[in-house]
Amino acid sequence: MTDPASSIELTDLEPTAADMTALVIEGLSKPQKTLPTAFLYDEAGSELFDAITDLPEYYPTRTELSIMRESLPQMAQAVGPEALVIEYGSGTGLKTRQLLRALQSPVGYVPVEISREFLMTSAAKLQDEFAQLEVLPVCADFTEPFEVPEPSKPARRRALYFPGSTIGNFRPEFATRLLRQMHEEVGKGGCALIGVDLVKDVQVLEAAYNDSAGVTARFNLNMLSRANAELGADFDVEAFRHRAVWVESRGSIEMRLYARRPTAVTLAGKRFTFETGEYIHTEDSHKYSLEGFAELANAGGFDVAQVWTDEAKYFSVHYLQAR
Ligand code: AVJ
Repeated sequence: MTDPASSIELTDLEPTAADMTALVIEGLSKPQKTLPTAFLYDEAGSELFDAITDLPEYYPTRTELSIMRESLPQMAQAVGPEALVIEYGSGTGLKTRQLLRALQSPVGYVPVEISREFLMTSAAKLQDEFAQLEVLPVCADFTEPFEVPEPSKPARRRALYFPGSTIGNFRPEFATRLLRQMHEEVGKGGCALIGVDLVKDVQVLEAAYNDSAGVTARFNLNMLSRANAELGADFDVEAFRHRAVWVESRGSIEMRLYARRPTAVTLAGKRFTFETGEYIHTEDSHKYSLEGFAELANAGGFDVAQVWTDEAKYFSVHYLQAR
């Protein structure tokens, strides 16, 4: 399918409102209510996330960028020339640009992103900046298998790029499944560069997700406004407050929306009630040790060939080779 606004070829698997409604109802029907994490990232959510990355408390983005800046030549060396770069998510692309610039004649770039508008805007910008690069966007939920588009110039190797510790959004069993899927997509001999946030002091972790400016709160609460606007729900947004909590037993920061008072929501004819203090679990952000992530990578069919970290060991970038 071709987007009329540009000449970029698009593979379009964007979910419909009906898909989203079904997912939201499923989440709200559980004993521990949840909302689909991917629902955080509409246009407003993506902009709020960008603002989060500039917050003084939110260390991951700036730390990962500094690791990249420091070690890009080594990363490019590891990936090698004429690679097809597949990225899960299409961020705002600062890290992506640095990587693409450092690589030796990459043949193509495949951003995989659930929000079509966001995908097409960022893909077009990138195509402008990298005229020689074939940009092949795929609008899809990257947690489901999809077909990797073939660049017109054959790639020597496929490299999966998954920055930002987004892998932390998934519980370890699912992260392993995702790694296996990446393995399928890059094939034997392919590789992956994955940003992984590391376990650290609780205060540092919780501050990063409960910033003093309240941007993360707006990011989290935006889900409710979005459900109202797009799915016809009637959440009383004011009745909820954001709180992120480090859950030691799971090695995860959980983002939650707590009911300040008894409240209810109706969606597609179904009503869900909340008691005071009850919460909706909206996102997990798992943190790993280097050993812990290596185990996960191994279970996914990869060998950890190189790891780069910052001095404080807050964050890591892993270079994995598909066995
Ligand atoms: C984009 C998933 C990596 O887990 O740190 C930031 C999302 N949530 N603040 C993270 C997020 C709240 C972020 N990831």
